[in-house]
Amino acid sequence: MIGAPLLEVKGLEVAYGHVSAVRGLTLEVHDGEIVALLGSNGAGKTSSLRGITGLIPPRAGRVTFAGRRLETAGPGTAVAEGMAHVPEGRRIFRDLSVADNLALGAWGRGRSEEPQRTQMVFDMFPRLAERRRQRAGSLSGGEQQMLAVGRALMSGPRLLLIDELSLGLSPLVTDELLADLVKLNREGLAIVLIEQFVHRALDVASRVYLLAKGQLAWVGTPAEAVRTGAVEAAYLHGGSR
Ligand SMILES: Nc1ncnc2c1ncn2[C@@H]1O[C@H](COP(=O)(O)OP(=O)(O)O)[C@@H](O)[C@H]1O
Ligand SMILES: [Mg+2]
Repeated sequence: MIGAPLLEVKGLEVAYGHVSAVRGLTLEVHDGEIVALLGSNGAGKTSSLRGITGLIPPRAGRVTFAGRRLETAGPGTAVAEGMAHVPEGRRIFRDLSVADNLALGAWGRGRSEEPQRTQMVFDMFPRLAERRRQRAGSLSGGEQQMLAVGRALMSGPRLLLIDELSLGLSPLVTDELLADLVKLNREGLAIVLIEQFVHRALDVASRVYLLAKGQLAWVGTPAEAVRTGAVEAAYLHGGSR
């Protein structure tokens, strides 16, 4: 691949007290890519994203985003530089309206562009527009995930990191959301996708990183992943410790 990567992670280590969750992760995301981050439960996918975005300060390693070192900068900086995170479990504000949840996503970056971005999100997800005054907690699971993605888009990111897109959603709703992400990607947004429906992730990804037991087990294209059986191996042998 030509040119400097948009995101470059080298030797990332993430730990919770004495529990090591990610060891020596190296990963790159280039402009225009959808990168799938896969691995069985407990493999370290969520912890990797937390380390990359600075939600958890990494124990070691380097995170360079758009040429800027982030590993000691904290999550506010990651958002300001153009990285947005859709966390596992969505973490929307259930008691706030759809519109207020979106407005919170514009905090810290581009508040002046809030009206245009809100319109962009509503154009992308008309169901959110129809429900803009509704309490977020009363939305369906799929609509809540749209809201979580929409809120992340409010910061005008160059890279979206999505943790467990389909958690609790039907296959149909998952496919709809994936189609929306592919559209965003074609419009220039780079994406890191954690997704339990592995084959759906392989369908949309340009490259795949497989984690097992906190370490990088395999990197390659989706076609190679299928051909070599790498995915099955990581899920069979890479389970929780
Ligand atoms: N808040 C936490 N405190 C302690 N250990 C954690 C915490 N979150 C995750 N872990 C541990 O870190 C490892 C990686 O977990 P996680 O990153 O959530 O994996 P994944 O997202 O791939 O399922 C697991 O062993 C898990 O038990
Ligand atoms: Mg996880």
